[in-house]
Amino acid sequence: MAFLDWDQTIALNIDQIDVEHQKLIKLMNAIHDRNNESVNNKEQLADALRALIEYTKIHFSSEEKFMDSFLYPGIDMHKKIHKDLLAKLETISRDFAASDQSTVPESVFLFFKDWLIAHIKGIDTKYASYAKKA
Ligand code: FEO
Repeated sequence: MAFLDWDQTIALNIDQIDVEHQKLIKLMNAIHDRNNESVNNKEQLADALRALIEYTKIHFSSEEKFMDSFLYPGIDMHKKIHKDLLAKLETISRDFAASDQSTVPESVFLFFKDWLIAHIKGIDTKYASYAKKA
C-alpha cells in the first residue's frame, strides 16, 4: 500500500498541474518504500530526497508561470509559501545527509504529506478556481 494515494479530493482538474502533483506523490512514496526496505542505502535515500526537492522546484516554477499567465492576484503570497517549503525541504535534506541516521524519519513523510494535501486543498484550489473564471 502506498504511503499516499492521489485521488479526486485533491484534483484541481487542470491536467498539467494534476499530473505534477501526482508525480510529487509518486516520488515521496518511492522514498517511503525505499526507507522501509530491510537493507538501506543512505546515499540512495539522500539522492531520492534531492530528486524530490528538484521536482518540487520544477512543479513550483510551472505553477508560478501558470498563475502569472492569468495575472493571478495572489501570486506573491503563493510564491512565498513555495519558497518557505523549499527552504524547509533543503534543511531536512541537509540534516539527513549530515546525521548518523540510516533512514529518513517518519515525521518527514508526515510533514510533507500534510503540507501537500493542505496546500493543494487550500491555496492551489484558490488559484485553480480563479483560473477557471478568468
Ligand atoms: Fe501545487 Fe502551490 O503547489
